[in-house]
Amino acid sequence: MDRCLVTRDLPGPALDRLRAAHQVELWAHRAPPPRAELERAVASVAGLLCTLTERVDDELLAAAPGLRAISNYAVGTDNVDVAAATARGIGVGNTPDVLTDSTADLAVALMLGIARRLTEGERLVRAGEWVTWEPDFMLGRDLYGATVGIVGFGRIGRAVARRLEGFDCRVLVAGNGDADGLATALAEADFVSLHCPLTTETRGLIGEPELRAMRPSAYLVNTARGPIVDQGALEVALREGWIAGAALDVTDPEPLPADDPLLGPPNLLVVPHVGSATHRTREAMAELAVSNLLAGLAGERMPHCVNPEIYD
Ligand code: DGY
Repeated sequence: MDRCLVTRDLPGPALDRLRAAHQVELWAHRAPPPRAELERAVASVAGLLCTLTERVDDELLAAAPGLRAISNYAVGTDNVDVAAATARGIGVGNTPDVLTDSTADLAVALMLGIARRLTEGERLVRAGEWVTWEPDFMLGRDLYGATVGIVGFGRIGRAVARRLEGFDCRVLVAGNGDADGLATALAEADFVSLHCPLTTETRGLIGEPELRAMRPSAYLVNTARGPIVDQGALEVALREGWIAGAALDVTDPEPLPADDPLLGPPNLLVVPHVGSATHRTREAMAELAVSNLLAGLAGERMPHCVNPEIYD
């Protein structure tokens, strides 16, 4: 039996499986463990099940001499220094596949939400400011028949493309590192939807030149990671009308402070990183995260490991 740290309670019964096999220390609070607490807690554990709010860097790994397995409760592992874990022979698990459809659903919901001005309209109704039905009131744009640029064509990007077939969309694809594909998507798309992982190459991928290259009638949608977009440039783009609007599930930082200038322009729809937030998906992520940790601690191949070279 090993000691494990789980940095947040997880939906569903998955943690029972971990408790049946190992001694589990659970950080049972809504807010992430403060760094000092995390460093104290990892000192005595062999397994770490963490979320994207924990920074698992080389310093934390150094504070965890007995750590043998890390299971990240997310598909993205940008919060983990995977190279540092690999150097120490520690496997890093993640949770792909199970969240693809929920995240793709949300991307399409954001496209519809920003283009049809759903939250803007809802605010008006709730404030008692909707006066009457008018022919030119709250006009938006159609997703049906639109051209959509998908930046990052992995599991989630492909799932978005499949959904857009039902909307008769023309889909333009820019895979990772495809500068020509990105240029075409920016120039021609009515919606540009981001689905690439956050890496050194994609940090700031959408900055002032890219936003200026988009059509003034186009929308930017981000369900990937906040730092892929230069938010300062995005705020100016929204305020000055370089683009028609943006819909974000992810920001930098998270949460975004209530007085952040990005929240000023009305043509922004923003939600609190809920791409995978359905009961079914979050429970499936918990099952996979626990399976990854159990396998890692047993010295077996994790079902989903981002540094499989540790098995060589
Ligand atoms: C992920 O998995 O990377 C999402 O951002 C959270 O589910």
